[in-house]
Amino acid sequence: MGDSQVGCADGEAIWALHRALEDAKDVVALTGAGISAESGIPVFRGPGGLWRTYSPLQLASPEAFERDPRLVWEWYDWRRQLSRKAKPNAGHIALAQLERKIIDGGARSFTLVSQNVDGLHDRAGSRNVLKLHGDLWFTRCTACGEVKRNDQTPLPELPPKCKCGGLLRPNVVWFGEPLPQDAWTQAVEATCRARVFLVIGTSATVFPAAGLAHEARQAKAKVAVINTEATELDSTAAWVLRGPAGEILPRLL
Ligand code: OAD
Repeated sequence: MGDSQVGCADGEAIWALHRALEDAKDVVALTGAGISAESGIPVFRGPGGLWRTYSPLQLASPEAFERDPRLVWEWYDWRRQLSRKAKPNAGHIALAQLERKIIDGGARSFTLVSQNVDGLHDRAGSRNVLKLHGDLWFTRCTACGEVKRNDQTPLPELPPKCKCGGLLRPNVVWFGEPLPQDAWTQAVEATCRARVFLVIGTSATVFPAAGLAHEARQAKAKVAVINTEATELDSTAAWVLRGPAGEILPRLL
C-alpha cells in the first residue's frame, strides 16, 4: 500500500485527491463498466456481470459475427436499447464537470479514456472521450468500410445492411481485434504526461487498456482507484477510494 492510501472513501483521502487534482497539470481518467452501473447498465465481471450469462466468444468476437451475425446483432441491439433508456449518473456528470474545470482553467489538460461503448460520457457533456473499445452508436460496413452514426433503437432489420448492400457490424472492438489506433496513441501520450491518473469502475483486467494504469504508475503519476471492490491495482495506488463512483466523483470537485 502507498503512503497516502486508505481502504475506504473517507473525507481525508477525498480531500487529498481533490487537492492533487487542483494542482496537477495533466490529469487522465480511465473508466470502465462500473461507472455506468448506477445508470442500470450491467458490468461484465463479478455478480450480475454480463459474462456470467453470456459467452464473450459467442457474442463479441469476429468469429461469432461470421458464424451468426443476427445473434450478435440481437445482443448489441439489446445493449443499445438498455443504453438508450439509461441516463448519465452523477459520476459521468462529475467527470464532465472536472474536464471543464481543468481545461477552462488554462494551461492544464484532462483526458478521459473509456472502455465503455454506451455513449453515457458524451451524453453527460464530456467533450473529448477517447473510446478504446469503440461506440455502440456507430456501425461499420464490412464491405465498403463506411463508419456511420446510427441512433435507431430497436433496429428495424437484423442484421442491418449498408446502402452498398454490405453487412453492417457494430463499430466496437471485439476480442482478438486491435484498438482504434488514434485513440490508443492519444491515450498513451496523455498517460505518459499525467500527474494524477484516476482508475474508475474497471476491473483493470483487459489489456491493453488496463496497461495504461501500469504505464501511469511507471511514469510516476499518482494513481487513484475508485471502485466498489478491491482491484489488482490497489496495492500500488496512492489512493484507493472504495465506493460507488456516482457518490465519490462529485465529492472530488
Ligand atoms: P468489469 O465488469 O470487468 O469491471 C467493472 C468494475 O466496476 C468492477 O471492478 C466492479 O467492482 C466495479 N464497479 C461496479 N459498480 C461500481 C460502481 N457503482 N462504482 C465504481 N465501481 C463499480 O468491466 P471493465 O473493467 O469495464 O471489453 O471491463 C473491461 C472490458 O471487458 C470491457 O470494455 C469489455 C469487457 O469484455 C470488450 O467488450 C472488448
